[in-house]
Amino acid sequence: MKHILVIGATGQIGSELTMELRKRYGNSNVVAGYISGAEPQGELKESGPSAIVDVTNGAMIEAVVKEYQIDAIYNLAALLSVVAESKPMLAWKIGIDGLWNVLEVAREHQCAVFTPSSIGSFGESTPHVQTPQDTIQRPRTMYGISKVTTELLSDYYYNKYGVDTRSVRFPGIISNVTPPGGGTTDYAVDIYYSAVKGEKFVCPIAKGTFMDMMYMPDALNGAISLMEADPSRLVHRNAFNIASMSFDPEMICKAIQIHVPSFEMTYEVDPLKQRIANSWPDSLDDTCAREEWDWNPAFNLNTMTVDMLEKLSAKLK
Ligand code: SER
Repeated sequence: MKHILVIGATGQIGSELTMELRKRYGNSNVVAGYISGAEPQGELKESGPSAIVDVTNGAMIEAVVKEYQIDAIYNLAALLSVVAESKPMLAWKIGIDGLWNVLEVAREHQCAVFTPSSIGSFGESTPHVQTPQDTIQRPRTMYGISKVTTELLSDYYYNKYGVDTRSVRFPGIISNVTPPGGGTTDYAVDIYYSAVKGEKFVCPIAKGTFMDMMYMPDALNGAISLMEADPSRLVHRNAFNIASMSFDPEMICKAIQIHVPSFEMTYEVDPLKQRIANSWPDSLDDTCAREEWDWNPAFNLNTMTVDMLEKLSAKLK
């Protein structure tokens, strides 16, 4: 990877991934692709090149790939699970029609492609505890349907055309930089904001609902490590289970109360979010990622909580 394009560079993951890639590969070698209305700001804007890249417009992607001699694309354009349920056709258009565009440009211009999948690619009939790498994937949400299709189409381009596609199934991602918008796992970010602001948190997910989560530094490291991995070791490609922690709302609340004893949480369950959460795994088995490309996360619930509270306190001061 010498010249990299991040599509969706101002989104939840993209804003931090772009900065991390610039740190590792040089500022001028990483192009922040954004859609109009979501321009990069601050350091993201100042530190390197950016370009308007609408994933639904193949010619636009191709023009940027040619101009910057791109050889790797991180395709992060997507709607999160709850929003995708209210705009299913748009979710498909961005997630799948957009992916076709990216893959076609990648085939023509020999680019490697990373397009994230998710715990949302599983469904009710998937084994929920220590969900295996290769198992039943019959989601009923549009988010999940588009993620399974992402995995299949990415593998198709690898097998048929040799396009170097690789991916991980991200769990809920927790970060103190760009907030997520419209996901089922957003509560695990929002809860820290409430704790730092001294507010009571009203949890939309029921007690006892376990989901896999991950701190952003591990998520970024996972994506980049996979793209750098020795291809001869990869048995799988699209997409690897990766895991670092699994908890329910009670556990994250208790982890916060160790540091903020006055913090309080009540429940007001959101039926759509709960239905989606119930259909997702409680925990993933990430043995294949550990064996094939040495996946090894650094953060657990407690170390993440310390870091989140510290960073958010400084940010919201
Ligand atoms: N964070 C995502 C969501 O909740 C899951 O991959 O939609």
